[in-house]
Amino acid sequence: MKSVFALAGAMLAGSALVVSALPAGASPTGGGPGISKEAFGNMPDGTKVDRYTLSNGQGMRVRILTYGGIVQMLEVPDRRGRSDNVVLGFATLKDYVDNNSGPYFGALVGRFANRIAKGRFSLDGKSYQLAVNNGPNSLHGGLKGFDKRVWRAEPVRAKGAVGLRLSYTSADGEESYPGTLKTTVTYTLTGRNELRIGYHATTDKATVVNLTNHSYFNLAGEGTGGAYDHRLELNADRYTPVDETSIPLGPLAPVKGTPFDFTRPHTIGERIRADDPQLIIGHGYDHNYVLNQRRPGEPTRAARVTEPATGRVMEVSTTQPGVQFYSANFLDGSLVGTSGHAYRQGDGFALETQHFPDSPNKPAFPSTVLRPGQTFDAGTVYAFSTR
Ligand code: BGC
Repeated sequence: MKSVFALAGAMLAGSALVVSALPAGASPTGGGPGISKEAFGNMPDGTKVDRYTLSNGQGMRVRILTYGGIVQMLEVPDRRGRSDNVVLGFATLKDYVDNNSGPYFGALVGRFANRIAKGRFSLDGKSYQLAVNNGPNSLHGGLKGFDKRVWRAEPVRAKGAVGLRLSYTSADGEESYPGTLKTTVTYTLTGRNELRIGYHATTDKATVVNLTNHSYFNLAGEGTGGAYDHRLELNADRYTPVDETSIPLGPLAPVKGTPFDFTRPHTIGERIRADDPQLIIGHGYDHNYVLNQRRPGEPTRAARVTEPATGRVMEVSTTQPGVQFYSANFLDGSLVGTSGHAYRQGDGFALETQHFPDSPNKPAFPSTVLRPGQTFDAGTVYAFSTR
């Protein structure tokens, strides 16, 4: 049976780029693309965690952990050619294990990214109760989601690009979700300064799936302070307003005439303190935008972000139907990041490409049901340039 999820994702996923496996530990060659691996620590139960560094020879490097598939660092050149880390994160494995349940810095989030109301849904007449871990709701896959698992890693490489394929098999009933879910996520760093993320999953029983990456960006550099001066454009005429527990009310609302309208560029901070009930609920922006897709699953521009001082530009495109724009409202200075700076509210922002929150309970939203014989395929590209 054909997938309910569009297959165009395979193209974006970078799978076409992947032609051969590299021996683990192969080191970067010359100025071209390369990948290396080092030990990053051990889990409390002794499981080894590795860190892979992918470089594209064009000033970009990305560091990915096998723990949670976390993007720990992402170095991107500014308009003068100087590279800085543009994602929030931690310096050590212990920090991630102890502190990442709140922010989910850089992590792969699953099985179900975002919220499911009261942690409950039914599928084919059966009801499921998930752990409730965010007020009355289930958030980001439950108590021990994909962000807290150690993934199997395999370096992959193709002409002009280098990648890392991560795999994790989630057992039937894990976190109370039905079906054995086999998930593969491929990160690819291209010679065109793109970080591509391809998601692929299959199941042996009907289940629900929503996968994303939870990176927080600050294009001026990690640890440099607030990101409210970044200019953001979102290709979305509508969004999904939420109740006071951040569950979509149901109807899609037009952004026109509200502080949620980013169809033309605005700084993140410009209207963030407006007297708008939705901004008050979210303590800022923490909302799913409905992307203006021509056809479901078609790769679509989601966002463009520019940072005035460094000239860095990030363009996000995706096959997914939505993007959660989260302005890091709950960072409160209690976490100290990669370069030793405390993170405060608004020090970064996340653009989580995904299916809409609470889709399993909202029949009108694009379906997140995955059945045996179908494949979940999605892709997101973060393209960097300067102006
Ligand atoms: C959610 C926020 C949450 C953040 C970190 C986002 O995806 O929408 O409400 O605070 O993740 O967990």
